[in-house]
Amino acid sequence: MQKIQVCMGNSCRLKGAPLVAHAFVAEIKKRGLTAQVEVNGDFCQSQCREGIIVKIDGEYFTHVRPIDVPELISHYLDYEEE
Ligand code: FES
Repeated sequence: MQKIQVCMGNSCRLKGAPLVAHAFVAEIKKRGLTAQVEVNGDFCQSQCREGIIVKIDGEYFTHVRPIDVPELISHYLDYEEE
């Protein structure tokens, strides 16, 4: 199972991390990937100046916005598009 972790520390939360997490969950459902990918919240990653922080299988992404979610899923998750 692949893992997406959205930082839910105070700084990221105030910048809109819950909207990013919802966007990941919605996009994963839309693509039928709920059995392959899990989305969780995470503690502060000590990169609070770098916008909203997301980790995909341990790789960090900074300044993530909800609009970036489809592209991140397409590029960084291992699955075949139907
Ligand atoms: S709150 Fe997200 S990196 Fe600190």
